[in-house]
Amino acid sequence: MSGEKPLTSALSPQAGRGSRSPSPSPRVSREREGPAPPGSARSAARGQAPAWEGEGQRSFIVAIDGPAASGKGTLARRLAERFGFAHLDTGALYRATARLVLDAAGDPADPATAEAAAHRVDPRLLADPRLRGDEVAVAASVVAAIPEVRHALLALQRNFAAQPPAPAHGAVLDGRDIGTVICPVADVKLFVTASTEARACRRVKELRAQGAAAIYESVLQDLNQRDARDSERQAAPLAVAPDAEVIDTTTLDADIVFERASELVARTLKEKEWQ
Ligand code: CDP
Repeated sequence: MSGEKPLTSALSPQAGRGSRSPSPSPRVSREREGPAPPGSARSAARGQAPAWEGEGQRSFIVAIDGPAASGKGTLARRLAERFGFAHLDTGALYRATARLVLDAAGDPADPATAEAAAHRVDPRLLADPRLRGDEVAVAASVVAAIPEVRHALLALQRNFAAQPPAPAHGAVLDGRDIGTVICPVADVKLFVTASTEARACRRVKELRAQGAAAIYESVLQDLNQRDARDSERQAAPLAVAPDAEVIDTTTLDADIVFERASELVARTLKEKEWQ
């Protein structure tokens, strides 16, 4: 999805603009790793106050997961805009970590190097256009498999979800483990997928539109490798949350996907009497 996400929206409040053969075969996750997310039963059980307690309306959280180039970034951005929510492209955090490692001629597979880089990730780095390159995408999936890296980036993501930048009162996060690990109590969970071939075609189109030379076979190979690494890793693998709505976009127009997801968000907002 690299070409789909303008970097300015990687960590951006969108508030005020709106009214209030799928492959890889997704595995269903029951994982809820790491520290308890704000507001969860687990944090309450430990006596921690929900992050938004006493601050009025809690944040409405939309979690979108899916494999590379499935269209989740575009969908996340459009939903944020429609509902006046803030958007966090969590892939950009892993890409920024990878970029810092590569810039220092480090090894993305070295846990100590990658963890140190993850601690240096700052929202300002997410606007670097170099994050969109294929070299960075591959290195991002390498650093993302390191548990220490995921842990270093956890609080930033959960804080964004629980307390999105003003004036937004809701957040849309897209990634690989949002509904399973980062925000297991999200109000809406979507898993966006498409066949590997369809995703490779989209990625080739995006790259060519940016003026880059793109060979279908090598893009397909890259996606397959990244999907395998993301799905097979031990730490927070790409997986479908049991309560996620799966949308296979192989033959669906982006506008139809957006309308379907919008209806789900609107219905949930109404059901929860969220305002
Ligand atoms: O845009 P694209 O879908 O190609 O990738 P991305 O969302 O920018 O993510 C780049 C890499 O970061 C992925 O291949 C994953 O390995 C990793 N990632 C992750 O592990 N967890 C996330 N929540 C987001 C991304």
